[in-house]
Amino acid sequence: MSTLHVIILAAGHGTRMKSEQPKVLHLLGGLALVEHALKLAYGIKPRGITVVVPAEHAAIKEVLDRHQTKKIACGLAVQREQLGTASALKSGLACVTAGTQHVVVLNADMPFVSLQSIRQLERQHNRQRAVVSLLTADVREPKGFGRIIRGGNGLVNAIVEEKDATSQQRLISEINLGVYCLAVAFLNKNIGKIKNQNRQGEYYITDLPRIAVKQGLGVTALKVKDPLEALGVNSQRHLYVLNHIFYQQQREKFMKEGVCLLGSEIFIDAGVKMEGGTVIESPCYIKGETQIAKNCRIETGCTLRGSVIAEGALIKSHTYIDGARVGVACQVGPFAHLRPGTHLSERAKVGNFVETKKTQMGFASKANHLAYLGDAEIGSGVNVGAGTITCNYDGYKKYKTVLEDGVFIGSDTQLVAPVRVGAGAYVGAGTTVTDDVGANSLVISRVRQKEIPDWATKYREKNNSGQDQKK
Ligand code: UD1
Ligand code: CA
Repeated sequence: MSTLHVIILAAGHGTRMKSEQPKVLHLLGGLALVEHALKLAYGIKPRGITVVVPAEHAAIKEVLDRHQTKKIACGLAVQREQLGTASALKSGLACVTAGTQHVVVLNADMPFVSLQSIRQLERQHNRQRAVVSLLTADVREPKGFGRIIRGGNGLVNAIVEEKDATSQQRLISEINLGVYCLAVAFLNKNIGKIKNQNRQGEYYITDLPRIAVKQGLGVTALKVKDPLEALGVNSQRHLYVLNHIFYQQQREKFMKEGVCLLGSEIFIDAGVKMEGGTVIESPCYIKGETQIAKNCRIETGCTLRGSVIAEGALIKSHTYIDGARVGVACQVGPFAHLRPGTHLSERAKVGNFVETKKTQMGFASKANHLAYLGDAEIGSGVNVGAGTITCNYDGYKKYKTVLEDGVFIGSDTQLVAPVRVGAGAYVGAGTTVTDDVGANSLVISRVRQKEIPDWATKYREKNNSGQDQKK
């Protein structure tokens, strides 16, 4: 079993984000910042993970719960008052079990830190028997970060926070990434020694190197090679820049896998999977855990979220697909709305201004224009005419509509659920179907047409003569 435990610091207010939402829940590539940190933590394969959260953490917990696995325990530690990163670490340390020799600490707002760098840091930490090891980077824009102070021998003596730094120290371009490997025994002895006598009146985790050096204990630093790893999120502007970089990386990745991207405004979230031969026109947003098989075409202006699109599907422009499954060679849109629980079988067609919800459509069935299909089970070869509406809701409960194989629904039909239309039946245009219809029947409920010959001629004559009199 690993002797390493990971602590993720995620309890800060994030006031610089100027948002009511906790900073760590802001999205980068569709995943919350804290989820990026958690994924990294799982990658380290530690004996356990603790996420330090603020007192009000229901929303953070909800996000973290989605990632629970049986293999590695992940728990929460509550930091009641946001007194600084050392105080957060102290809260987390209380969750570390006996037998843990080292903790890896991650700031939850540094989503580009790589697993490789952490592994290397860990190796260096062990090799040099250090008590404090940290990741650093040389950057062009060190503003806002803690600066690394090295002694004449080149070794790290201390970290100075921007707000406490002298103008000379602020010129230092080597910064602290907020990723540490720390010996538990050292922490237990020393974490209480950290004082909050600094500009911000906070307990700084970054005081640890100074304390270790004073005691003649080993402090090591590892400089990361990729400057992207040093990008953190403290403001909306930072988040914007990181999202920009992230989505560009995603585009590069999928182009390598054979996806053809026409234009640059194509945003593909972290959890998306796609196969080669698919073409996407800009702008499009592919969100959540969406999967798109090979040889699909997604036209301009579409949003797909948490959906599965099978091979050869054509999604025409301005279509919104959420929690749906689209079968092989289906055609959807333009301007269609597939809501959660929609399942289109092979070659089904859903055309413009059609909304579906919790609806299955069988092989080659069509709803080509202007329809609402909710809670419906539609067989194969069914034709749903324009203006068809499933009346599935009575204000309290939802009811099901079943259209069996080969049914033909004429235009402007209301299907008052619960209702079933038997295989091969015809529903005449303008019908309100309230009762089940037998197989191969015709059902029609419109008022009989009446014709009055010459009515219009007489009507006009009467009105025109009235106007002559007025003149
Ligand atoms: C911190 C480091 C700085 C480093 C930078 C790298 C300190 C004092 N400074 O500064 O040297 O260059 O990160 O990103 O550590 N947090 C808590 N509880 C708190 C305060 C913060 O859990 O009371 C969490 C935050 O949610 C965040 C992380 O700790 O995930 C870092 O906090 P933040 O306030 O962003 O620190 P920086 O000012 O960026
Ligand atoms: Ca930060």
